[in-house]
Amino acid sequence: MAQGIPNEVLMNTTLVKDLADVAKDAALLQGVLMRIQEKPNSSELVTYAPFTLFPTPVPKAVFLQALSLQTHYNILVDKISQDSTFLEEALASTIAVDDFTARLFRIHQQILKEGRSQSIMLGINRSDYMLDQRADGSSSLKQIEINTFAASFGGLSSHTPDVHRHILNVAGRLEESQRIPDNNPAAGQARAVAKAWELYGSERAVVMFLVEESQRNIFDQRFIENELWKRKIPTVRKRFDDVHKKGSLDQDKRLFVDGQEVAVVYYRNGYMPDNYISEETWDTRLLMERSLAVKCPDISTHLAGTKKVQQVLARPEVLEKFFPDQPDMVEQIRATFAGLYSLDMGSEGDETVAMALATPDRFVLKPQREGGGNNIYGSEICQVLEGMKESTERTAYILMDKIHPTPGQNYLLRQDAPLKVSTCLSELGAFGVYVRQGKDMVMNECIGHLLRTKSSEHSDGGVAAGVAVLDNPLLV
Ligand SMILES: Nc1ncnc2c1ncn2[C@@H]1O[C@H](COP(=O)(O)OP(=O)(O)O)[C@@H](O)[C@H]1O
Ligand SMILES: [Mg+2]
Repeated sequence: MAQGIPNEVLMNTTLVKDLADVAKDAALLQGVLMRIQEKPNSSELVTYAPFTLFPTPVPKAVFLQALSLQTHYNILVDKISQDSTFLEEALASTIAVDDFTARLFRIHQQILKEGRSQSIMLGINRSDYMLDQRADGSSSLKQIEINTFAASFGGLSSHTPDVHRHILNVAGRLEESQRIPDNNPAAGQARAVAKAWELYGSERAVVMFLVEESQRNIFDQRFIENELWKRKIPTVRKRFDDVHKKGSLDQDKRLFVDGQEVAVVYYRNGYMPDNYISEETWDTRLLMERSLAVKCPDISTHLAGTKKVQQVLARPEVLEKFFPDQPDMVEQIRATFAGLYSLDMGSEGDETVAMALATPDRFVLKPQREGGGNNIYGSEICQVLEGMKESTERTAYILMDKIHPTPGQNYLLRQDAPLKVSTCLSELGAFGVYVRQGKDMVMNECIGHLLRTKSSEHSDGGVAAGVAVLDNPLLV
């Protein structure tokens, strides 16, 4: 049977050193880049985005399963976003104690009260999984979370397959090099944004990327911008502050920023409390949500991606409610759920607390936060839960079964880090896009994948958080 990279290659230090040099140059040539943090706004200070020296073995069947599920997940996210009663009930206990989710929810309610001004919906999602190791050595696909807001690395991951293929070619591993699947989420994302832009129906209107202050990961976004420009669709990059100072709605709620009409707001910023530095930032979010521009995502879809919603979805009969006549779909989605437990006040939540305190190593405790580095593991679960187990504070969290992927050996290449072999864990993401106009789904596709790998000594954290690095599946 076809396998991963053999030990004679992995452990050959002379070869590995040479390959690492080849690899870094290949990443630079392919545009797998990040800006260096200290000087965020200069394109003159650039390095390769961190990545693995070798691709990581992933069973083909599980890989295809993740991809084929993505259109189901797109529909699920969209249905949740349209079900205001469900969102209200699911998030009630969370918003009572979590200010950030509460503020997002208030915007959602205000939009419902005013009536949504735009019936075109654009979703760019990424559903992330780990491969849980079964006793018999096989692995099963378990969802970590779904990202409905600012799901990143579709741009860079469109260019990493050629880097790994090149490394394997240089290493004389031609057969393996052919088992790295093609990937082009950037093209798929641009196709979806272009569709939404077309449906908006104004040739002069722009696609506005609502971007971070730091712009460290700008190249990931540039690939999508470039695809849009190739289609003669103009794009602009604005921060919250730019929109606050130069943005307004006309009498038809069309959004204008700096004199340009905005057809699509594509948020790459605004998913964590720190992104909202002032009341003006919140006002600016509300302004964009109220506008006629297509929001990717809109506020309801943002809320559909919360971890509390993920936990409620895992309750009995909830998926059935969204897919009453599609038991197959329900079964396929549910098969990817890990155990998820409520910490709401009451006996069920009390049981969750007792279970977590008794066997903390079996679980991950998660607050309603995105961006990596927020989850709580191991003995720290006990410390945190002991401090709040009798209080409603606990309802800001959910508890999840810890997933145990099979570790592998690899080298994590990042600037200024020594070259050494690490024991690694990987997380596979599937990118999905959809466009809906009123009741019509005009596009619903899986557009590619993302593999990220981290050293097993880190429990948490993504690429942007500086823990995980970009990788590719080596299908086995
Ligand atoms: N159930 C789990 N089992 C094992 N690791 C997990 C689990 N949930 C999260 N993690 C780890 O923590 C990281 C961050 O968790 P995630 O739920 O994706 O939150 P975030 O929104 O911060 O990305 C994941 O990338 C993964 O490495
Ligand atoms: Mg994540």
